[in-house]
Amino acid sequence: MKYGFFDDANREYCITTPFTPLPWINYLGNDGFFGLISNTAGGYCFYRDAKLRRITRYRYNNIPNDIGGRLYYIKDGNTVWSPAYRPAETELDSYECRHGMGYTTFNSTKDGVNAKLTFFVPLGDACELHRLEVVNNSNETKDLTLYSGIEWCLWNAVDDSQNYQRNLSIGELEVIGSTIYHKTEYRERRNHYAFFTVNTEVDGFDTDRDVFLGAGRAWNKPVQVENGKSGNTVASGWYPIASHSIKVTLAPGEKKSYVFQLGYIEVPRDQKWESKGIINKKPAVELINKYNSDAAFEAAFKALKDYWDNLLSIYHVESKDEKVNRMVNIWHQYQVMVTFNMSRSASYWETGIGRGMGFRDSCQDLLGFMHLIPERARDRIIDIASIQFENGSTYHQYQPLTKRGNADIGGGFNDDPLWLVACTAAYIRETGDTTILDHPTPFNNVEGSEKPLMEHLRRSINFTINNKGPHGLPLIGRADWNDCLNLNCFSEEPGESFQTFGPSEGPVAESVFIAGMFVKYGKEYADICDYVGLKDEADSIRAEVEKVKTATEEFGWDGEWFLRAYDAYGNKVGSNECEEGKIFIEPQGFCTMAGIGQEKGFGAKALDSLYKYLVNDYGIEILAPCYTTYHVELGEISSYPPGYKENGAIFTHNNPWCSVAATVIGDAEKAFDIYKRSCPAFLEDVSEIHRTEPYVYSQMIAGRAAVHYGEAKNSFLTGTAAWVVVDITQAILGVQPTLQGLSIKPCVTKDFGNYSVVRKYRGAKYDINVIQDGSGKGLVVDGAAVEGNLIPAVEGKKEYKVEFYI
Ligand code: GLC
Ligand code: GLC
Repeated sequence: MKYGFFDDANREYCITTPFTPLPWINYLGNDGFFGLISNTAGGYCFYRDAKLRRITRYRYNNIPNDIGGRLYYIKDGNTVWSPAYRPAETELDSYECRHGMGYTTFNSTKDGVNAKLTFFVPLGDACELHRLEVVNNSNETKDLTLYSGIEWCLWNAVDDSQNYQRNLSIGELEVIGSTIYHKTEYRERRNHYAFFTVNTEVDGFDTDRDVFLGAGRAWNKPVQVENGKSGNTVASGWYPIASHSIKVTLAPGEKKSYVFQLGYIEVPRDQKWESKGIINKKPAVELINKYNSDAAFEAAFKALKDYWDNLLSIYHVESKDEKVNRMVNIWHQYQVMVTFNMSRSASYWETGIGRGMGFRDSCQDLLGFMHLIPERARDRIIDIASIQFENGSTYHQYQPLTKRGNADIGGGFNDDPLWLVACTAAYIRETGDTTILDHPTPFNNVEGSEKPLMEHLRRSINFTINNKGPHGLPLIGRADWNDCLNLNCFSEEPGESFQTFGPSEGPVAESVFIAGMFVKYGKEYADICDYVGLKDEADSIRAEVEKVKTATEEFGWDGEWFLRAYDAYGNKVGSNECEEGKIFIEPQGFCTMAGIGQEKGFGAKALDSLYKYLVNDYGIEILAPCYTTYHVELGEISSYPPGYKENGAIFTHNNPWCSVAATVIGDAEKAFDIYKRSCPAFLEDVSEIHRTEPYVYSQMIAGRAAVHYGEAKNSFLTGTAAWVVVDITQAILGVQPTLQGLSIKPCVTKDFGNYSVVRKYRGAKYDINVIQDGSGKGLVVDGAAVEGNLIPAVEGKKEYKVEFYI
């Protein structure tokens, strides 16, 4: 069953019912100001940091979980309705929600009135624009009252949800004309405020939630709206909100339009006040004036569309598979932008009050983002590297506002440092820009500790070399990519963090997964060394890679698949000898990608084993059989009921690893099959089972052992997005950036047929046609046959015509 449809021409998903199984969401904003918006206009917004600069309030565990956000009501006689269905929850005559690239629209009708709502964040400004258009399609004159509403969060979203003894006394506002300014805590240490305005004179306003809603009522039935009034209240303490009311008379066929703006302003500390207690509104007024007309709104909306046209023109495929085209050309790249911006900080399932930017998460997100805006990728790499410690290990997370490492969680995740090598290598492959390696980058943000980025990479690599266990395999520390494999934790008390608890980071427990990473990224590091002329270092690192490779072949292979780990007692994890958790997905993908045991056919065997034990209808499960009891020596992984999360769900992030792995051993059938199984567009028809958005990946899909097999959870913020871009665009379709230039190496099935790719790369445009005529002729560039896969780059050349014959 479907709840809407893809509109590829407009790059939208059109949702045709407000009753999706879960809120189906979208993201507004590119840099700075961000909003989350659902298909009933729920959600929240914030400036840069969802914890420290939350602008509107979101109630966790709410019922329905999606009420609140952007609240619009239309009062038409005795009927009150909302174009986004919520908050009023009045049955609509028609409803449509379209999520597009950085914007969301609603188009609904009730009793002859059509209302359109459009939401987006204009490029380069810290505000959300909301336009409400109303048309009278009936034969009578309509007297309507329109209401807007938002609820302010008192900035720090954690305090806002727990420190009521203080909060309920600190709310402060100013109202000037149609603009409501939220200035809580501005009198003391803050130098930022927010505002909500509309480009017309209003008939009234309310900022006191209790007056607006009325005693004992909720957002679906505000007493003021019911009575067609506004109290012109200026809240003091309690629950500050912002609501406008506008009376409008529409003749038959008449249309009116209003532009609302929700903005965020920072003021230099010495210019905070206009006069005693009155905030300096100058910068706000400038921003308000910038978007106070339909024309300005439309121009900004067009600029946003042009921005996405441009981004999505960098990689574009045309094949006969509509779903592949749709996902590659639109939604995969879009999701990558969102994960680049958010890491795992703010979604409907990541509250924005827990973790900020993850080290491993953000490094991986970059792998699929690189081609879109390499300059931003470069800055991000430096930010991430700046939380690394001198010994090569690193903080696990940082807060986006402060960019400082998060001391609560600390470090000790031994996969982390290697991901820095992964994303820097990908950056150089994309851009050819090796100057990033010289960028002076601090350790732990300590001023004066700066060393060239290359030194950070070196320490990352050496961290693994210097932290190996009894079998010569890398020590796992607190956890590797699988946060729930906590081999040094031994937690017996509820509430202890599995990730940070534990007697030590462990001198024994080893990770075969990190071994795979080290072999793969050690080689990429050595390639960089060669590229910048550090030949000796390249040789010595290749020798280290060889050691880990040999150790993995000897101690990390179980006969039919790669082992997962050795625990703190030196016992095997992910072995046929185990009763549960016999086989894990991660090392099959990573060790095969790394080419470990290639000559011995390990990769092909490992992937066959995946198909034998872990593949289900919707993807590849993370392990089997699932743990049925809690294992203190394994940690959180065994805490989840079978089939969920890291205990046997399809944890989608690692599926593309296996697809890429299949291309490494030349198995095009498996590569494409794995790609398709968990790809959201291919699951659209079973949306009632899948339940999350069919346009983006979710973190997990419950496995066969789960009660709700096939049900996805935690949509949007997952490393799957970036890895899938790498998988389908580079490994399968075969357009691969390398240090030396663009290389064409498709791994596609015969059935996939011919296809073309347009790729903009290092200042040139490549028109690539892959032709499956059975000739096996290989690469032809501008009519001339070329040996190998690399397109020879010609200085100053702007366009290449490329054919690749299979
Ligand atoms: C979560 C984390 C990620 C981790 C994964 C597997 O998605 O954000 O860092 O690798 O879970 O545990
Ligand atoms: C839990 C989750 C895992 C996540 C981790 C980080 O362990 O199961 O997916 O990465 O928390 O907080």
